[in-house]
This record gives sequence, structure tokens and C-alpha cells, in this order.
Amino acid sequence: MSSNRIQVLDLVFEKSLDKSTIQAEVSRIAGEMNRDLKEKNPIFLGILNGAFMFASDLFKQITIPCQITFLKLASYVGTQTSGTVKQLIGINQDLKDRSVVILEDIVDTGETLDTIIRQLSGYEPREILVATMLYKPEAIQKSIHLDYVGFEIPNEFVIGYGLDYNGYGRNLSEIYTMVPE
Ligand code: IMP
Ligand code: MG
Repeated sequence: MSSNRIQVLDLVFEKSLDKSTIQAEVSRIAGEMNRDLKEKNPIFLGILNGAFMFASDLFKQITIPCQITFLKLASYVGTQTSGTVKQLIGINQDLKDRSVVILEDIVDTGETLDTIIRQLSGYEPREILVATMLYKPEAIQKSIHLDYVGFEIPNEFVIGYGLDYNGYGRNLSEIYTMVPE
């Protein structure tokens, strides 16, 4: 297997975005945020688990006054309905009238982000901005405005840089795309 190929559990992946390409994009986004959000005292909300690496690299380059926290979507089976309900947990700051910036690893169908935005709206922030490292335009099913996008990628399964396959691969500092069998 070439050094650009790795095996994770039963799947093979090939490197698709290398370290310097990713870091250049993170720097570009940080630069735009430092300019756009300078007077806004933003609060950044990193979505766990996937966004931890993007968030860490990005925040080291944010130079304006800001607050940072991390949220998680917890699934539970509702007692009233039969469906699975996803609840955003970990909000302990007052978001009212704040500029909130969501940090995501990837936007695929947009379901997750849509859920997050709807729940955050209840806290009456001044505005909600969205930053995502990866975006699959072919997969999106919701109408969501993305303010900062690292890379648009094809509708293929990827791991690395926070993204996982059954919990594995999050620690990879580069992004790998699944190779079809
Ligand atoms: P969405 O709700 O369909 O937009 O999917 C968002 C979530 O699905 C992400 O936060 C990831 O956890 C997961 N996801 C979507 N695509 C991928 C992928 O290619 N690799 C790993 N996880 C993914
Ligand atoms: Mg995620």
C-alpha cells in the first residue's frame, strides 16, 4: 500500500488534502474572521467531536477579543415520539444578542447544522454565522448559508482532521477519501 493509502478497520482511504493545503485554508479563514468579526466580540461554538482539530488550529490564529466554547449534539429516543431527538448540550453562556459563530467539521446533508441553528435561535443571538472545514454541495438537502467554507469536496466519505469512521481516524492531520472496493 502506498504511503498515501491507509487502512482503517475494513476500509481503505487515500490522502486527498495534505497538511499544508489544510493549514493554508485555516489561515485564510482566520484572517477573514479577524477582519469581519473585529468589532463583534464573537462567541465561537465548536461542535464536538468532529470540529476539535479545525477549532484548535483556527483559534490559535484568532487575534480579536472572543469567547470559545464547545457543544455536542446528544441523541436520545424521545418518550413522546418514536423518532430520535437530537439535543444540543453544553450551552452555559448567555447567547442573547451575541454574534455566534458555529464551527463544524463537515456539512453533508445539512441536517445536523439545521438542528443546531434552530436550537441556537431560541437563545436569541444577534446573528448566527457558520464556518465549516468541509462542505459536500452535492449532498446538501437544507437551505443553509455558510459564511466560511474551507473546501468543497465531492460526495464521498472522508476521514481525518477530526472526522472519523466508527470513531477511528480523528487524529490524522490530513484528510483521506474512501477508496471504493
Ligand atoms: P449532515 O447532518 O448530513 O450534514 O452530516 C453531518 C455529520 O455527519 C458530520 O458532523 C459528521 O459527523 C458526519 N459526516 C458526514 N459526512 C462525513 C464523512 O464524509 N466522513 C465522516 N463523517 C461524516
Ligand atoms: Mg460533526
